[in-house]
This record gives sequence, C-alpha cells and structure tokens, in this order.
Amino acid sequence: MADNRSQFDGARVLADLNALRAIGTYKTGVHKPTFSEPHLRSLEWLAQRLPEAGLTAEIDGIGNVLGTSAKPGPKLLAGSHLESQNFAGWLDGPLGVVYALEAARVINPDPDVSGAVEVASWCDEEGHFGSFLGSRSYVGGVSEQDIDAARDRTSGKPMRDALREAGLAGRARVIAERGRHVGYLEAHIEQGRTLEDGGLAIGVVTSIVGIWQYRIVFTGEQNHAGTTRMNIRKDAGLALARFCVAIDERFPAACGPRTVWTTGRITLDPGSPSIIPGQAEMLFQIRDDDPRVIERLEELLRSMAAETTTRGPCAVAVERLRTGAPAMMDASFQEAIEAASKSFAGGRSIRMPSAAGHDAQMLATIMPAGMLFVPSIGGISHHWTENTADADIVTGAEVFVDACRRLLAR
Ligand code: GLV
Ligand code: MN
Ligand code: MN
Repeated sequence: MADNRSQFDGARVLADLNALRAIGTYKTGVHKPTFSEPHLRSLEWLAQRLPEAGLTAEIDGIGNVLGTSAKPGPKLLAGSHLESQNFAGWLDGPLGVVYALEAARVINPDPDVSGAVEVASWCDEEGHFGSFLGSRSYVGGVSEQDIDAARDRTSGKPMRDALREAGLAGRARVIAERGRHVGYLEAHIEQGRTLEDGGLAIGVVTSIVGIWQYRIVFTGEQNHAGTTRMNIRKDAGLALARFCVAIDERFPAACGPRTVWTTGRITLDPGSPSIIPGQAEMLFQIRDDDPRVIERLEELLRSMAAETTTRGPCAVAVERLRTGAPAMMDASFQEAIEAASKSFAGGRSIRMPSAAGHDAQMLATIMPAGMLFVPSIGGISHHWTENTADADIVTGAEVFVDACRRLLAR
C-alpha cells in the first residue's frame, strides 16, 4: 500500500523548518511580526505545500491558513502558528505547523488509514494585535468590532489597515464546523528546561496556563528635572519603579507554587532626561493554571494600587486587558502521545503543564485537544538563540505522526 509519499521523512521536516527560517531571518532566528512581509510569505509557503498532502489550501480573512481534506473518515486538526515575536526564535510556531504538514503528507495518502489530518496555521498567536486572534476567531470568539479595535502593539497600525495591505480585507473568516474534527493536536518546543534537565524527549501536556494581562498607569506631574525640588515632585516613573518592587515583595505570600508574573514593558511619558515623567505605564502579566490564584493576585494588585493612590503623590489605575482561561488537555490525547512516545522515543516522556500560552487552549474550548513538547536547548525561547537539536526535532516529529495515526484510528 504505502507509496513514497507515505513514508515519514525526518530530513524533509528539517528542510521545511529551515526553509521557513530562511524567510525573515534574524541572526539564527527570525523576525516575523504578524502581517509583516516575511510572515505573509511564510503563509504563502504553507499554502503552496498543503496540496502535497492532499489538502485544499485557503488563507482566510484573519490570516489563518487552513488545509482541508475531502477524504472520507474522521478528521484530526493539527497545527500551530507562523508569525514570531519580534527578533525571536525559528521554532516557536513553525515546529507545530511543519509537524502537522508532515503528518498530513504521511497519513492522508495512506489508503490503510481511514480519515485525514487537516492542517492549520493560526494567525497572531504571538499577540501582536490581540490574544490568539486567529484560533479565537476560528472558535467563534472574535467579533468584527474586536478587529476594528485591534492595533499592532509595536507600531500602533490598525489591524484593518494591515489586513487590507495583506490583501485579506473582505475575505470571509473560517469558523469551525462543529463535529468535523475528532480533536486538535499541536506540537511545540517546550520553552523551558524540564525535558532537557531530565534527559527526556517528549512532554505530554496536561494543561495550559491562564494568562491575565494588565495596563497599570501612574499619573503624577510633568515638570522641569532641574528646578523642581525633590520633596515636591510627583514623579510617575519613580512611583512605577516602587510599585514593581512592592509586587515582588507581596505576591509570594498570595501566589501558587507555579505562578509567574512579569512586567514586560515600561513607558515613561514624555520619556526625556530633563523632564520628570508626568505619566508612566507598565504592561503586567500574571500566569497560573488556577484562575482562583490569579483572581486573588488581581485583588492584591488592585488594593496595592489603591494604597499607593491614597499615600500619594501619584495616582495609580489598573486596567485588565486580557483574561485568558487555562485549558485542560484531553486524557485520551495524552494517552495517544504517551503510546507514540513508547514506540518512537523509547518512552522518554513526562506529563507536564504548559506555562506558555498556545492556540490549543482556544481549540480546547470546542473540541478535545492535546499538545506535545520537544526539548528546548537551555530552555531559551522568545529570543533569537532559541533552538532544539535536530535529532530531537526528528524524534518529536515521528512521535507526532504516530500520535495522529492513533487518534484517527480510535
Ligand atoms: C506565547 O507565546 C506565550 O507568551 O505564552
Ligand atoms: Mn508559540
Ligand atoms: Mn511564543
């Protein structure tokens, strides 16, 4: 039965990943913000390859690439994303897309397998314009007003303008057809050190963390940096710095064992050496897989802001920008990945939660979902040095393809 096209090919997986790295290369990584020219070229690259896997390709009105199959039998949806964080790594996203493509190339032409793998590249997982806009749109969670309001977080460009320039304005958005898929499987680099430290090949993801994000604005008084005496200043930048330190002092008493929090961006206004900042803003994020823990920390954050305002001299306002629910991965998907790992990775796997957000958490709101991790060298990600050993990439791909077969065969 199996012809050439239905053999797993690890060299092809590596070649595809390197072809995607050659589009928008930055040092050893890539710079592919959502709807940038290299991002759009990567979407086209995928759309051109999907027919090799017997799939009909479509790029929809929010920049999702979908490969659908007319083969009878069950359908498994698989994928990840092709844009990157700014000046970041080559595998965060493309790894899961190329694994899905390989699974489709191997499985779909095989007459012994009933059903097919359908491939998706979700747009803007990295949140340049919002949070999980592509996969959230597919599950029915994005309105036209959400798109009207979305702006590129780096340039401020409206998403409508970006869609028009990309030639996607006016195209329909593809929404999931309920009941079409047995579920969704996504592979990803771990982006941490659990697998590497344990000498393991595969992470079987049990849950994906919830991410809540805030804008915290400090308002003081802009004034001259030379003539304004220290005791009468209302320095919003200083208030922000003190607040950051206070968070680190007070959160540990209220957090859970795996909670993490990050101030990812600070902006001082007007941001000039001879001017006392009149306003300061920080983008702040809390992650945990228990929403009750995040709620407790938000309460603390708000009470700290109220205390700071009462104490003066600056006022603090906390605005929640994003409430990302955690997601549980389906038990039978975990079993399929573990069984595949026994066949192709010597069983060197571990069940683990994901502290990074992934499109699988959006898909999990409408269908069973699972995720598989491969090791990240040194646990580095969201940086251009992000990497995984070729041998680990190939092992992970083989486990992924086998897990897809098992999920279609159930
Ligand atoms: C996804 O990239 C995340 O920040 O978790
Ligand atoms: Mn990712
Ligand atoms: Mn990422």
